[in-house]
Amino acid sequence: MQLINVKNIIDSRGKLTIVEGSKDISFEIKRVYFISGVPFNERRGFHAHKNLRQLAVCITGSCSFLLDDGKVEKTIILENSSEGLLINSMIWREMFNFSSDCVLAVFADNYYEEADYIRDYDIFLGEVKTYEN
Ligand code: TYD
Repeated sequence: MQLINVKNIIDSRGKLTIVEGSKDISFEIKRVYFISGVPFNERRGFHAHKNLRQLAVCITGSCSFLLDDGKVEKTIILENSSEGLLINSMIWREMFNFSSDCVLAVFADNYYEEADYIRDYDIFLGEVKTYEN
């Protein structure tokens, strides 16, 4: 997990938020998706990825991430589009506290592949140990 600076150009016409693959982040971007309209108190995520690396940026509004590497849990609040949260593979994540105006953009280094997901926390804990050994 790492927070990086994301470029924003703000003027009287509004805000432009920019992420360039292989420049601002080490990987090439193959997929971008956006999460919005999350109801009050709803939580999302509850999975890890075997290989996928992602950058999450709150374009507007705010949300929180719980990140867990199998040993340590961290909570990160994203509330500014100049902050990008890099999430490596094999990190369990839960997203919560979405503001009603939150638009969360996620930049990923690969296409959607359900086989890359680990959606069971106990399986995640077991696999994290395997990766370490
Ligand atoms: P999921 O990643 O589980 O959402 P979240 O982690 O935000 O709770 O995805 C929800 C559904 O959308 C699931 O059925 C898979 C599908 N999906 C795609 O088809 N393509 C994608 O790029 C993503 C991210 C999800």
